[in-house]
Amino acid sequence: MNAHAVMGHYTCNMLWIKTLHIVLVASWFAGLFYLPRIFVNLALVEPGSEAERQRLLLMARKLLRFMNILVGPALVLGLVLWLYYGIGLGPGNPWMHAKLLFVVLALGYHHWCGRILRQIEIGGQTRSHLWYRGFNEWPVLIMLITVALVVIKPADLGEFFLHMALPIAALIAVTWVAIRAQRR
Ligand code: HEM
Repeated sequence: MNAHAVMGHYTCNMLWIKTLHIVLVASWFAGLFYLPRIFVNLALVEPGSEAERQRLLLMARKLLRFMNILVGPALVLGLVLWLYYGIGLGPGNPWMHAKLLFVVLALGYHHWCGRILRQIEIGGQTRSHLWYRGFNEWPVLIMLITVALVVIKPADLGEFFLHMALPIAALIAVTWVAIRAQRR
């Protein structure tokens, strides 16, 4: 297929950009899922096991660096699809604005992970492994909602979030149980 061939509303170039966007975003989220798992393991390190702590910190630093490299290109390709090719641009596309809100939440979560890692490095680790297990659930919800928004492209956001109420409630419950268990 040549670069300008059209498939439905898509040219071949658009489809390649979308492919790379999906691959980069999926790899970024793999990091958002795995970095808090390393925090869980760091919280479980026995006092005095300095070698183990340093090995986990090295893994966490490398993973965060990898995520920092991926996030820019992943989002720029999304912006190209939106602002240059015009998918989801203009009135009548509330799903795109909702998607952008969840992208901001994912960026905030990424930033928070970086802060937590710096805190742990300087020895300011105060949270339990259970807290990190709860924290670890949030990117699942962010990814589920973001992907559902772009695949379904709901015209009615109210109805969409009504369908999402169950997974959201389940996630809040899991986080709540984890944080309560920490307090005991
Ligand atoms: C600046 C942020 C982003 C912008 C502007 C953006 C924009 C877009 C646009 C315009 C499309 C094409 C939709 C279509 O072809 O119908 C797309 C596809 C897609 N995006 Fe993003 N995106 C962003 C971030 C993300 C993130 C963080 C995720 C995942 C959590 C994501 C997941 C996807 C997926 C799975 C598709 C393919 C949907 C399909 O083909 O049905 N995007 N994005």
